[in-house]
Amino acid sequence: MNYDNYKTIIEPFRIKVIEPIKATSKAQREKIIQNAHNNLFLVKSDDVMIDLLTDSGTNAMSAEQWAAIMRGDESYAGSPSFFRFEKSIQSITGHKIVIPTHQGRAAERIIIQSLTKPGQLIIANTLFDTTRANAENWGCEVLDLPCEEAKDTSSSYLFKGNMNLAVFESKIKELGNKIGLVVMTLTNNSGGGQPADPENVGAVARLCKAYNVPFMIDGCRFAENAFLVKKRNTLYKDKTVLEISKKLFELADVISLSAKKDGVANIGGFICTNNEKWGNQMKNNLILTEGFPTYGGLAGRDLDAIAVGLQEALDEDYLAYRTRCIEYMCEGLRKLGVPLVEPPGGHAIYVDARKFLSHIPPSQLPGQALVLSLFIEGGIRSCEIGTAMFGKKINGEVKEHSFDLVRLAIPRRVYTQSHFDYVIEVFSRVVEKKKELRGIKFGYRPEVLPHFGSHFVWA
Ligand code: F0G
Repeated sequence: MNYDNYKTIIEPFRIKVIEPIKATSKAQREKIIQNAHNNLFLVKSDDVMIDLLTDSGTNAMSAEQWAAIMRGDESYAGSPSFFRFEKSIQSITGHKIVIPTHQGRAAERIIIQSLTKPGQLIIANTLFDTTRANAENWGCEVLDLPCEEAKDTSSSYLFKGNMNLAVFESKIKELGNKIGLVVMTLTNNSGGGQPADPENVGAVARLCKAYNVPFMIDGCRFAENAFLVKKRNTLYKDKTVLEISKKLFELADVISLSAKKDGVANIGGFICTNNEKWGNQMKNNLILTEGFPTYGGLAGRDLDAIAVGLQEALDEDYLAYRTRCIEYMCEGLRKLGVPLVEPPGGHAIYVDARKFLSHIPPSQLPGQALVLSLFIEGGIRSCEIGTAMFGKKINGEVKEHSFDLVRLAIPRRVYTQSHFDYVIEVFSRVVEKKKELRGIKFGYRPEVLPHFGSHFVWA
C-alpha cells in the first residue's frame, strides 16, 4: 500500500462487525468525569466516544482470527492450539522454547524472578511501567538509559528507542554481574513509541554477552519497530519486516511479549528463549502462578487467535496503513501548533503537555489537565505519561517527572480517518481555550502504579 500521493488513508480491510459509539454532550461529560474523580481510568468505556487510552488488547480481530478461535482446543495438556501458537512464534523469533502467559506483565515477572536476584540492577532503554513495578517489587533497582536524543522531544532523530551506548558500556564495565538483566523495549513505549536500530540493539547484546549478563527484548511492538527500521535505515529497505524482526529477536537471550499489542489479540503474552535451563526454571514458576506450560493462563482459543494475529502484524500493507494513521494525526496536530514527541512513533501520538500548557507547572500535572480537557471537549480518552504516572513521592511530596506527555494510543484496525479528523477538530477547540485551562492535584494517590486509582482535584 502506498499512500504517498493520496490524502485518503484507505484501510486495507473492510468492516464486518460494528460496535456503536454513544454520543454524549459536554454537560454529560463534565458530570461523568466528576463522578470518576477526574481519572479517565475510572470512567466507564461506554461513556467514551473515541478511546485512545491504550493500543493494548483493544485490537479488532480479523475473520481469520475468529475462525481460529473456533478451532481452539481446550485440553489441559498438549492442546493442538499450543502447537500452532508455538510454531507461529518460533517462525518469527527463532527461539525454540515458547511459554504462554496470560499477558505481558506475567511474562516479565517470571523472567525477572527466574533470572535476577533481589538487590541486582536492571538496565533498560526505558522499562515500561509494569516491568519497572515488577522489578522493584522483586527488590531490583532499575536504571533507564535512553539515548541523549530521546531527551529532546522535538529532535527528529529517527531511533530515539536506542540505548545510550556510551553510558551503558561504562555501567556494565563498572558493575558487571551486579546487573541482573538488560532490557531493550521495542518500540520504546514510555519514551514515545520510538524504534531502536538493529545496530544499537546488536551493540547492547554484544556487551551483555561479553559481561555474561542476560539480555531481554520486550518485543510487544516488534512489528512496528521492524517496519520503522525498514523505513528509516536504508540498510534494511529491501528486507522484509519478518527478516528484520527475526534478526532483532535472535540477538536476545530471552523475549517477553504482550500479545495484546502486535499479537493483534485481546489477551495473552509469552516468553521465549533458547536456554533450556532457564526454560525449565521459568516453566516451574509458570505452573505455580499461571498454569500448565501448554496453556499458561490462556484458553486454547486465545492461543489460536495469537498464532494468527502475530503473522497478520507482519503484513506490510497493514503496517503502512497503521504508521500512516499516526503520521496523519501528527500532521494535523502540528498545524495547530501542538508540540509533539517527534518523529511520529509506531502506535501512538505523544503530546508534550508540559510545553503545550506551559502556564501550568509540572507540580500541577499539565498532562492530566490536557487529558481531562480532551475528554470534556470531545469525549476522547487519552493517557497521561508523566508526573501523575511516574512522579516519585519523596518526603510526602510527589516530585516532577522528567517529562509530562499525553499519549493518544491507536487501537489496531479499530478507528478510521474520520475518527482521526474528529480528534484533530477537538484539539483545535482545546487549543483555542488552552490559556483558560487550570492545573490539577492529587486528592488521593495509591502507592503502587498510582495513575490507575488516583483521585484528582482541580488546583
Ligand atoms: N511492555 C510494554 C512495552 C508495554 O507497553 C506493556 C503494556 C507491557 C510490557 C505489559 O503488557 O499489559 O500485556 O501486561 N502496555 C499497555 C499500554 C498497558 O497501554 O501501553 P501487558
